[in-house]
Amino acid sequence: MNFTIYYYSATGNSLHTAKSLGGQLENCRLSSMISLRGADEVVIDTDGVGFVFPTHYFGLPPLVIKFIKKLNLEKIKYSFAAATCGSRYINSALHQLDALLRQKNKSLDAGFHVEMISSYIPLSAIPPAEKVTKRLEKADLKIQRIAEVIKKQQIGRDSEYLWLPSRAINKYWREKRLSQAPENFSVSDSCISCGCCEKICPVDNIQLEHKKPQWRSHCLECLACLHFCPTQSIEFGRRTAGRKRYHHPRVVSSEIIQSKTR
Ligand SMILES: Cc1cc2nc3c(=O)[nH]c(=O)nc-3n(C[C@H](O)[C@H](O)[C@H](O)COP(=O)(O)O)c2cc1C
Repeated sequence: MNFTIYYYSATGNSLHTAKSLGGQLENCRLSSMISLRGADEVVIDTDGVGFVFPTHYFGLPPLVIKFIKKLNLEKIKYSFAAATCGSRYINSALHQLDALLRQKNKSLDAGFHVEMISSYIPLSAIPPAEKVTKRLEKADLKIQRIAEVIKKQQIGRDSEYLWLPSRAINKYWREKRLSQAPENFSVSDSCISCGCCEKICPVDNIQLEHKKPQWRSHCLECLACLHFCPTQSIEFGRRTAGRKRYHHPRVVSSEIIQSKTR
């Protein structure tokens, strides 16, 4: 069976997961969801398809929902998903994805959560380096197990506790709160106007004005700008000041930037 893995990643966890799975499966190509943002329809021409993306607010990021809605899945015989996250227990991403696929008369054959490091530092700080390493090693083992399941085209999903309230929170965030995200960003005087934030924003929502970033209205709150800022000049709300920044150690900013176009 040949595969296409569609991925979305802001801070590299999902890109690392997609690359690693792609490397372990034969006949697998990777494609970025963001690079296909402008397409009206995406026709999948492989027998198998995979989706790899972060968990945002207990469920699917809006960009993933939009992407799934425009897929033509007619040829697909097997599908899987890996939702990367900080903590896997309270989640609705796999339920949501399955429901979207069912609208197209398909279903999610295999679904997994991959616990990595949470990029949502407005809520919790990045753990000490040793813990980060351990957790990412554990995640790599899980990715290997996922690859084995996919190779055998097995069926089954990781459980999602409290998926109904999680789905409601995710919907509330997407529909009512996300539009306010730009108001939460601030920039300190240490900003050197390098434009990294402008380049890395997956939806080109940032523009330098008077040499400082300005966030326009279609922010996804992915926090790529904050984590990749080389001078740590970007804050989101009141709790990110002084907190360590994070991106997956095996993913560099240029890969995230490249994923916007290919
Ligand atoms: C806006 C936002 C919301 C998040 N919400 C959750 C969540 O509900 N549960 C969770 O476990 N992790 C959450 N996270 C953490 C990410 O899911 C996790 O760090 C993911 O692996 C990031 O993937 P990426 O590096 O490919 O962007 C959130 C991160 C962001 C930016």
